[in-house]
Amino acid sequence: MIRQIAHKKYGGKKNKILYRERDYHGTTIATLAAGGQHERSAQYGPFPEGFISVPHCLEYREAAQDNLGQGESYGLRAANAIEDVILREGPDTVGGLILEPITAGGGVIVPPEGYWPRVQEICKKYDVLLMIDEVVCGLGRTGTWFGYQHYDIQPDIVTMAKGVASGYAAISLTVTTEEVFEQFKDASDHMGYFRDISTFGGCTAGPAAALENMRIIEDENLLENCTARGAQLIANLEALAEKHSIIGDVRGKGLFCGAELVTNRETREPAPEAKVQAVVKDCMAQGVIIGATNRSLPGFQQHSVPVTGADLYGRRYRPHHRCNRSGLKPSLWLILPKPD
Ligand SMILES: Cc1ncc(COP(=O)(O)O)c(C=O)c1O
Repeated sequence: MIRQIAHKKYGGKKNKILYRERDYHGTTIATLAAGGQHERSAQYGPFPEGFISVPHCLEYREAAQDNLGQGESYGLRAANAIEDVILREGPDTVGGLILEPITAGGGVIVPPEGYWPRVQEICKKYDVLLMIDEVVCGLGRTGTWFGYQHYDIQPDIVTMAKGVASGYAAISLTVTTEEVFEQFKDASDHMGYFRDISTFGGCTAGPAAALENMRIIEDENLLENCTARGAQLIANLEALAEKHSIIGDVRGKGLFCGAELVTNRETREPAPEAKVQAVVKDCMAQGVIIGATNRSLPGFQQHSVPVTGADLYGRRYRPHHRCNRSGLKPSLWLILPKPD
């Protein structure tokens, strides 16, 4: 879309797409090119041109190293770093910015205060379309229908998939504002429509499952439940952090939470992979199923943990299918940066 709009409106020039370090958007060649997890894209090159990275906004790691300020002050600095990239590249060459509302596989990065409003402001200022990737956060994972709704922003394009039908059927969507969509319409041009086609486009099974999934989410008040259970999950994780010094940081929203594991809280030295795997194994032995992400960032080993056992809720066990039923899969991610 960004590329077609660039051709239609800007003589092809405003075609660059900015993406953020640590974010992930998929494994096709363009989405890998827009991916901020370099161990995932390694050995897939060469990549298409025009994908430019902007810095991540993980305060826990960055603020400690570079004394960049804290809270809102850090959030503004992290957002302003995007403006720096736009100015460096030339605003007339940058068409879009793609971001996860809360970075998932890159470390459950809940953006700091002040970050999102400033990002929106920057996008408006330079006429850069804001694309939000809701593939993980969308459809209730964080307690709102979409992750971006926590931040009072208005994206131009939103993508979503996984939770749309709770994984029971394959479905993905790209949604735009009317304003973006209208830009594709031009009766005087035989190329004046959004040109896209795919094998499963128009297949009705996914949408049917999605509509039923959304009905269940509404009827069973699962967004409210996600918020309430999520608050419990975070509180329990914070209580665990008081007992276990290996937990360096707890982050998340709703039922999408993570814990970053360290060997030393002062230095924030990352815990070794074997230790994290031991935590995963121990949780499993206690009926709490947690998983681990694959290696994705150079020098960083991350472990993501979808939780299905319900000790975190104060109960002993909850059947897996129940937790998964409406896309509101509780998840806990353990983050293990791997030292060189
Ligand atoms: C945030 C995010 N975006 C996009 C994708 C890619 O989705 P797909 O594998 O359906 O292309 C993923 C996959 O995990 C993801 O986590």
